Amino acid sequence: MGHQFIDQSVNGINMKVLVAGSGPPLLFVHGFPLNHQMWQAQVERFKNKFTVLVPDLRGFGASEITQGTITMEQHANDLNTLLTQLKIEEPVIFCGLSMGGYIAWEFWKNFPQRLHAFILCDTRSGSDSEEGISNRLKMADLVLNHGPESISASMIPNLISEATQRDHPEIAKRLIEMIESTDREGIAASQRGMAERKDFSDEISDIQIPTLFIVGSEDRLTPPNIMKTMSAQLPHAEYLEVPDAGHMAPMEAPDFVNQAMEEFLASS
Ligand code: MLT
Repeated sequence: MGHQFIDQSVNGINMKVLVAGSGPPLLFVHGFPLNHQMWQAQVERFKNKFTVLVPDLRGFGASEITQGTITMEQHANDLNTLLTQLKIEEPVIFCGLSMGGYIAWEFWKNFPQRLHAFILCDTRSGSDSEEGISNRLKMADLVLNHGPESISASMIPNLISEATQRDHPEIAKRLIEMIESTDREGIAASQRGMAERKDFSDEISDIQIPTLFIVGSEDRLTPPNIMKTMSAQLPHAEYLEVPDAGHMAPMEAPDFVNQAMEEFLASS
């Protein structure tokens, strides 16, 4: 099967999802403020052995937007409904990056029977400090007033490492294009949702499914020490640091990351 970018009616919105390949379901959940395109290298690598499912979350990419606040729980509910609509009954391997990880905790809490394994990249289980929350609300207002162009370029040093910025300017370009093509209301709504997300740090030790944590060694937003600590909390977790990569490790070092994912998938 080739790639299909299909429409699904999900909890009152139209959601777009890329579906490719056949085999066990492998769900990729993008970070903020991006879309399904960030997983391109993983789609190419895994569609031969898996049914790869790559949605644009509510408010991002080609999916419909709802204004106000979109909580991580809402995103998790959308993913559950999407799987139902797609008639996916087999438990999925849930691969999420950053905000995709925040959504993963809610998905696990609400739909544990839907999960086979986790691959969690560049994310954290804790919620935000007062200052973090206030920065998010300021960013939401800035984007609403001035559009995604007001944040795109300044996000790059936090998203990719200095080495990636120097050696792969095309990755910065792709990220800027993704951010600038995102609707301002969609960005603000998920930013507000992240600001009020729950703290899962004391709960993740109950996660029993095999879990692979991946983090860029240069990740400034969710640094390696945070991911290493999470990994030590879970009974069945592996931890991988990606040399010279930043927050967008799967885009910055696709071969290295895909290899690790493949080995993990073969054993779980
Ligand atoms: C992401 O990549 O999804 C963001 O860094 C998440 C966040 O803003 O905490």
